[in-house]
Amino acid sequence: MKHGTGELTELYLENGLRGGRLLCAQNLIPAPGQYLLAHDGSDAPLPVPVFSAGPVPGGFLLAPAIPQTWQPGASLSLRGPLGRGFSLPAAARNIALVSLGETSARLKPLLTAALGQGASIVLVSDLDLAELPPEVEVQPLAALVEIAKWADYLAIDVPREFLLGLREMLGFSKQARVRFEAQVLVVTPMPCGGLAECGVCAVTTRRGWKMACKDGPVFDLRELI
Ligand code: FES
Repeated sequence: MKHGTGELTELYLENGLRGGRLLCAQNLIPAPGQYLLAHDGSDAPLPVPVFSAGPVPGGFLLAPAIPQTWQPGASLSLRGPLGRGFSLPAAARNIALVSLGETSARLKPLLTAALGQGASIVLVSDLDLAELPPEVEVQPLAALVEIAKWADYLAIDVPREFLLGLREMLGFSKQARVRFEAQVLVVTPMPCGGLAECGVCAVTTRRGWKMACKDGPVFDLRELI
């Protein structure tokens, strides 16, 4: 884990949410699914977890939504990269990226590796999706059960409050076993990043409570359902 600073150089809007472009040292750039804790030096009491939406020269795109108070030119104190991210199986050839939250941006850093291993990729979301590579097929969430049968790997981005319904969304009965590789990025506030053990990010797993900030935020689907 590193400490450093980054400069927010510009903002962008995606589905009405603010993202940004952050310049920072290479060793601070989070891998897909990992995060940094960022603070703008204001009176805000807590740092904000930020995720990559993909690399840019000298830094990375901040996935939405970033705080309204952050403006271009802001200097951010950064700590990280933190947590456990996605690990794309090298053998995966049918890959589904599933966005159940308000942005698909946290899944986009997986595209480069997935395309690089010649996989077929479907992004499943009901959001307006822009600037995707032409190789990526888009399907609505209504197709999720069918896509889950086709995929040999799923990366799912889900707000913590939707976890209880995830098994049904994927088309599993209560007894059915999960037979494919799937990893789940649990989106939750993570104010201390494991430093204070505040418990705000607690997630129920098969082995009891886990902290998304350090045991996740990416979990194996089998741990969760
Ligand atoms: S954010 Fe405090 S324990 Fe996870």
